[in-house]
Amino acid sequence: MKNFREDFPILNEEVRGQKLIYLDSAATSQRPLKVLEAVMKYDKEENGNPHRGSHTLSLRATEAFESVREKVREFLNARSTKEIIFTKNATEAINLVAYSYALNEVQKGDSIVITIAEHHANLVTWQQIAKKTGAELRFMYVDDQGRLPLEELHKIDETTKIVACTHMSNVLGSIFPVKEIIRKAHEVEAKVLIDGAQAVPHMPVDLQELDCDFYVFSGHKMYSLMGVGVLYGKEEILENMEPFLFGGDMIEYVYEQETSFNELPYKFEAGTQGVEGIVSLGAAIDYIREVTYPVIHEREMELTSYALQKLKALPYIKIVGPPDMEDRGAVVSFVVDGVHPHDVSMILDHYGVGVRAGHHCAQPLLRYLKVFSCSRASFAFYNTKEEIDVFVDKLDEVRRVMGYGSK
Ligand SMILES: Cc1ncc(COP(=O)(O)O)c(C=O)c1O
Repeated sequence: MKNFREDFPILNEEVRGQKLIYLDSAATSQRPLKVLEAVMKYDKEENGNPHRGSHTLSLRATEAFESVREKVREFLNARSTKEIIFTKNATEAINLVAYSYALNEVQKGDSIVITIAEHHANLVTWQQIAKKTGAELRFMYVDDQGRLPLEELHKIDETTKIVACTHMSNVLGSIFPVKEIIRKAHEVEAKVLIDGAQAVPHMPVDLQELDCDFYVFSGHKMYSLMGVGVLYGKEEILENMEPFLFGGDMIEYVYEQETSFNELPYKFEAGTQGVEGIVSLGAAIDYIREVTYPVIHEREMELTSYALQKLKALPYIKIVGPPDMEDRGAVVSFVVDGVHPHDVSMILDHYGVGVRAGHHCAQPLLRYLKVFSCSRASFAFYNTKEEIDVFVDKLDEVRRVMGYGSK
């Protein structure tokens, strides 16, 4: 199989005199040369302010910008480009739904249902809406393997107005039963937001098949630049929502005391957008299509299964999340007995290995699991088994440096 490392210039970097082994793609993925070149081309040949003028560069910029919207629509199988809104990141997309939809639709006596495994972006935001509206914030809990049991769906009931759930947990690696959640929520006429930040880089998403009301993700976790995210919303819902941010481009007519707003999707895109990020997202989609999801999936599952198997063989490692490959993505969190995750990360860095340490923006989950903090290795299809060998071998070194034998 092709060595995809070659497509990613940064993977030639050395860290502390060692070949870089990047195992933190769940925090942000690296960018292939094709994405970087697309941004360079845009800046060299097309940069202008989209929708702002009729001169050639503004028109080229508009074309570059709007062609990505169509690309995203097709990629996710949304019905219309009116349903694709560019944001700064997944966090901003969730906030947009919270403030423009939920704040107006949720009231005291209602419930908002989320899972305990949500990233703070999809947790703190709903906590705020619950506080502002007096609604109850209700949690669905994972089992001791980090999976969401279907019995937890009974938390969704007639009082529920919003269900917000991650497609794949950034800590546990579990893929949640979003289809069942969406079905159950719609039975009680609740709206569903799926946080796809950890899903879109790894698996095809068909929004018409899923039938969720909102879906969000960030470009930087799927091989594009930082500064671009996407909110998908069903057109009929977005049509009735108030704008989130106000200013240029989101208006139709402005008078001294009144303003009428632009049509979808522009109503939700106030001010100049991060066009380079958006262009890079288009190039990232082209790149994923070239590599293909089946290849990404096969490679990532092979790496994850290999890493899990090797880690489980170490007596001082505890896996946080499903111990097997069922319904799981390319994220493996773990605790090294007796060693703080920050020490794990710092010592591994001496060998060029980058893993994440801490609470992973999921403090309630770690508290629930009674894990103080943990380390996380996350893989992308550009990683290799040899990299995993180095990473796992060096865990013995971590224990030794911290004063333990390897057992
Ligand atoms: C599951 C999940 N949701 C949301 C986010 C927030 O993404 P961003 O910081 O790009 O808005 C992340 C980032 O790690 C995540 O893993």
